Amino acid sequence: MFGELNLLLIGFMHIQILVAAAPQIPCYFIFGDSMVDSGNNNNLNTAAKANYRPYGIDFPQGVTGRFTNGRTAADIIGQYLGFSNFIPPFATATDQEISTGVNYGSGSAGIREETGSHLGDRISFDRQLLNHKTTISRLSTLQNNITFTNEYLHKCIYLSNIGSNDYINNYLIPKIYTTSLMYNDEQYAAILVQQYSQQLKTLYDLGARKMAVFGLGQIGCTPAEIARFGTNGKPCVEWIDDMVKLFNDKLKTLVEDLNQYYSDARFTFINIRSISAPQGDLPIPSVPCCPIGQDAQCVVNSSPCLIRALSVFYDGFHPTETANIVIATRSYISLSPKDASPYDISHLARL
Ligand SMILES: *[C@@H]1O[C@H](CO)[C@@H](O)[C@H](O)[C@H]1NC(C)=O
Repeated sequence: MFGELNLLLIGFMHIQILVAAAPQIPCYFIFGDSMVDSGNNNNLNTAAKANYRPYGIDFPQGVTGRFTNGRTAADIIGQYLGFSNFIPPFATATDQEISTGVNYGSGSAGIREETGSHLGDRISFDRQLLNHKTTISRLSTLQNNITFTNEYLHKCIYLSNIGSNDYINNYLIPKIYTTSLMYNDEQYAAILVQQYSQQLKTLYDLGARKMAVFGLGQIGCTPAEIARFGTNGKPCVEWIDDMVKLFNDKLKTLVEDLNQYYSDARFTFINIRSISAPQGDLPIPSVPCCPIGQDAQCVVNSSPCLIRALSVFYDGFHPTETANIVIATRSYISLSPKDASPYDISHLARL
């Protein structure tokens, strides 16, 4: 597996050079959870924050609040798109910065409002959409021409990576959340995708025309869920992966439907499950790189593993930068038609 991962990465290097050209779109907005959070939770009252070492150990600016050792997949996609700076988090974005986009991601946030509440404050997807409204008013004031701002917003790429916490920090904790009493797996996937559909329509109403919607990874293969539920001798918690697959399948169908419904917009589904599928028969090595605590996050000031390029997981839930490079590269230029459908992000940018 390690050898194959290395081979994969070497294969990706030429793509990086290929796309290092000029910025292709004027702006890039990022929505989601800790997979993309770049510091929005730092000043919130929550346990879900990562603004301490050893997070950020391989990031140019060090500790920022990113839940990984280096760049997130959203960061790397931004570089592929040609942005020379990382898209600023909403929490600190200045007027000078917002014209290239804003990152609204918030650790522990979900599609559902209550998701993650036992960890403290977080910016749910609905609140991220409200924050985006605020950004648009700021942008309109700065650009001082409504027609121009509307046309500008149409050209941006909007990335959305959310839903994992609606399982991890909601449905899978029946002692705190009632969703698993109210819905079976199939119904829950359906109501989540239904709510997500409304939220993506709101994003459309706010001017989004190029949207990359990320499916969920194999939550049942994360070190934290394996430790919590056990695997019965299998590599992963299979019943969790089956549950999440119901969501992914419905989300893919939603993306197809939205492309039909909005003829002037382009949506694409990024299939993390296909992208992170092990090459060959060996399972993903579900071992965190840093020592983790009860909350599955890295222990404060602990020493992470030395060769981080060989780890898939940095803590109990989050991928290392190495894994994020694979995710970003294959969503930008798909290696298999399953990775991104109907478009990979490089194609979405050119449409
Ligand atoms: C506003 O922007 C539109 C679209 O770019 C442009 O055609 C128009 O001339 C601009 N109006 C003014 C007053 O600058």
